[in-house]
Amino acid sequence: MMDQAEKLRQLMNLKKANNDNKFRVLTVTSGKGGVGKTNFVINLAAILQKRGFRVAILDADFGMANVDILYGVKSKYSVYHLLYEEKNIEEIMVTTKDNIKIIPGGSGIKELGQLNDEKREKLLSEFSKLQNIDILLVDTGAGLSNVVLNFVEVADDVIIVTNAEPTALTDAYGLIKVIIKSNIKANLNVVINRVKSITEAKDTFEKLSRTVESFLDYKLKYLGYISEDSKVGQAVREQNPYVIAYPKSEATLCLQKISSVILGETIENKNNSIKDYLGKLLRKMGR
Ligand SMILES: Nc1ncnc2c1ncn2[C@@H]1O[C@H](COP(=O)(O)OP(=O)(O)OP(=O)(O)O)[C@@H](O)[C@H]1O
Ligand SMILES: [Mg+2]
Repeated sequence: MMDQAEKLRQLMNLKKANNDNKFRVLTVTSGKGGVGKTNFVINLAAILQKRGFRVAILDADFGMANVDILYGVKSKYSVYHLLYEEKNIEEIMVTTKDNIKIIPGGSGIKELGQLNDEKREKLLSEFSKLQNIDILLVDTGAGLSNVVLNFVEVADDVIIVTNAEPTALTDAYGLIKVIIKSNIKANLNVVINRVKSITEAKDTFEKLSRTVESFLDYKLKYLGYISEDSKVGQAVREQNPYVIAYPKSEATLCLQKISSVILGETIENKNNSIKDYLGKLLRKMGR
């Protein structure tokens, strides 16, 4: 029997033929720092890639970009060098051994709001060379910067990562509140990380979701949870995603479930060409 993901993959393969330059953007963010965004991003990327999707990651955390480090690859350049030091997209991009493309944003991310026409053209034309992507995952910094909100605003889906600690939940709520009060129309999804049990995960989501529903009149979507798992830290030290290094681990099983939910709900619609996406982003940032 074909599972849902398999059916979707076939559907997508059919679509690829005539829909080749379109992809889906998932922006991953959090209220509090250190809750597990980057580990989530690289492992989700690895799973989606294994399931047959072509994945790129934009490391938009200009403070502490580290997607490449967690993958054990090293990037010399970033979007900054593309903008100001004549580097092209192939030179700044790094490709992992499982063929995931990583685009380091670096301090270039903060500059995106202030580009003159020439730089803007350069950015668009370089990024337009990125063909054949099905899914773009954007890893942001934590908290409430305008840059993060811009990335939230232009995403097809936003994934907010939190853990069960009251501080993380309060900050997640704060972020959601700002997103909704700014009239940003985003699909907000939640992943609860580092849980000790499925009940803890559900209770934590319920708590957040009830508060958001009653004070902000918005219904969050639950994507699932990731167990507290020592394999996560081990994989970080080995600079390899845990879904690859430890395919039987608790955390991997959790990520598999989450990726099925994501594939089931959001992947049919690939909305963006790279030009549309960056155009939208630059307009938001330039305001
Ligand atoms: N499910 C988990 N089980 C155990 N440890 C975890 C889990 N998820 C994340 N961690 C640990 O939490 C730490 C922070 O993770 P990560 O760097 O992904 O967070 P982040 O949200 O990207 O942080 P920042 O806000 O600084 O970008 C890492 O050391 C990682 O090993
Ligand atoms: Mg991070």
